[in-house]
Amino acid sequence: MKIIASAVALLSTVSAATGTTYHEDPTMHLTGWHNRNQVSPEEDTKPVHIGSIQAEPVHWNLTASIDKFCDFMVSAGAANMDLVALSEGFLSGYPWFNFFASTYDMASNSKISQLFAENSLQVGSAEMARVQECIAEAGVNVVLPINERDDKGSQAAVFNTALFIDKSGEIIGRHRKTLPSFTERFWWTQGDGTDLVVVDMPDVGRVCSLLCWESYLVLACYTLMAHGCEFLVVPTQDIGSIWESHVSDIAREGRWYVIAQGQVVAPYGEAMQRSAIAGTHTQPGGSQWYPRLLEGFKNAYGCTGSPLIANATETVNRQNLLRGSSATAAKESQKNVVDTVSWIPEPVPLDQAVEKCATYFMDGGMSIADPNGRFLVNPIHSNYMYADTVNAARSGCVHSLGPGIPEESHCEFVEVDGYNRDEEFIVLANASRGEVLASKLYQDNVGNYARTDIWKVEWDNAPQDYIFETAGNSNGNQHGNGL
Ligand SMILES: *[C@@H]1O[C@H](CO)[C@@H](O)[C@H](O)[C@H]1NC(C)=O
Ligand SMILES: *[C@@H]1O[C@H](CO)[C@@H](O)[C@H](O)[C@H]1NC(C)=O
Ligand SMILES: *[C@@H]1O[C@H](CO)[C@@H](O)[C@H](O)[C@H]1NC(C)=O
Repeated sequence: MKIIASAVALLSTVSAATGTTYHEDPTMHLTGWHNRNQVSPEEDTKPVHIGSIQAEPVHWNLTASIDKFCDFMVSAGAANMDLVALSEGFLSGYPWFNFFASTYDMASNSKISQLFAENSLQVGSAEMARVQECIAEAGVNVVLPINERDDKGSQAAVFNTALFIDKSGEIIGRHRKTLPSFTERFWWTQGDGTDLVVVDMPDVGRVCSLLCWESYLVLACYTLMAHGCEFLVVPTQDIGSIWESHVSDIAREGRWYVIAQGQVVAPYGEAMQRSAIAGTHTQPGGSQWYPRLLEGFKNAYGCTGSPLIANATETVNRQNLLRGSSATAAKESQKNVVDTVSWIPEPVPLDQAVEKCATYFMDGGMSIADPNGRFLVNPIHSNYMYADTVNAARSGCVHSLGPGIPEESHCEFVEVDGYNRDEEFIVLANASRGEVLASKLYQDNVGNYARTDIWKVEWDNAPQDYIFETAGNSNGNQHGNGL
């Protein structure tokens, strides 16, 4: 059945339904709506402990990535976090090479795509059960971004998905990215109208997610606002000042918390190695895109010459350039890649590729903005160029309101056993539902600021499938077998 109705009209007709899995309950995406007026003043002001994880998955190795995920869950549980969020495609890896590799080396694509799909995660699988167990043991609610293997049709498609898993380990909602950006569409299939999901999470409130640039879709944001979302989780791969201003803007626009995680990709780490391995299987002699790309990145990031810091000033300049302007950065890094490809006579041997450059290829940049658009957690970058990133990044938690006014600290670092605290960690910040409520006094798109008499938003929430059976057969038989 195809349902087209205004979101506002629909909302008043649904009944409460929590604690079921997403596929059993077609009204799941509305479960967040019901209990706002049942929240006691105590519950409203109690701190919601939000943990934001900055870490690199073990790219294209699902087992190892789940191991790592579980290690982080142990620390999150020990620190009594209520809601934990991770970066886009955490299980098991964002295809960081997609802007370059999709069209650059067609011969390698299918092999890499195979690796990508094989290490994606399917709801209902044994691997998924392990993830749910770790979450239940830790007792924290999680927004978990995964590469989700399709559970229908050929089961070859992969979605860019955020799963909402509550602290008992139950999957209470699923959001599939409705619009992967640009070359991302090469790797991920897009979700449908059922994917605008708001869930109630115990001890937290109403949680929703949009993945990366999907949060630029104003009507997707609006639909989630109309469902009363209070905590918008935005895992991404974007980085830099333009992205940061967006995080702050949509926080103020939605009057909700915006919790954003970025990618961590070490320049010569697992991610590049594994992609290279996939590529070299494609044709006799192996594909060359990875070593050449690597050399391109070394140039783009100013680590030419010595594999370590060739010239720190130059490195920092280029880093700032890349962070400062996406357009310029893209142009600059593209230029270097292209230049490199045209003049490098021999690819860099893989054993040289493990040497570290002065900076990460992607260094996180997580942030959390409050419902007024102020950064509760200033953007934080992982970087072993600093002697002690945690201390350097503590400024991410410190807020200065002006000369003479004591600084306030709004978040804290939680280290994870077995990981380098300067590079991978969890940041804990306290939020509250009361803060969301209070900020809506000033401006509320789906309340005192709404003008539904002028503008009306329609949302088609019909589930899509690859085949729709109809009862058109004269026998009333729905299976088309003529019996
Ligand atoms: C994936 O990780 C597991 C666990 O760390 C390891 O045993 C396995 O060899 C890895 N697989 C590949 C293909 O590297
Ligand atoms: C390092 O790079 C900067 C900026 O390009 C340049 O001005 C400086 O001369 C370089 N220093 C050395 C020692 O090469
Ligand atoms: C968060 O709240 C807890 C109390 O629930 C408190 O102990 C902790 O210091 C707070 N942390 C921050 C960073 O405000």
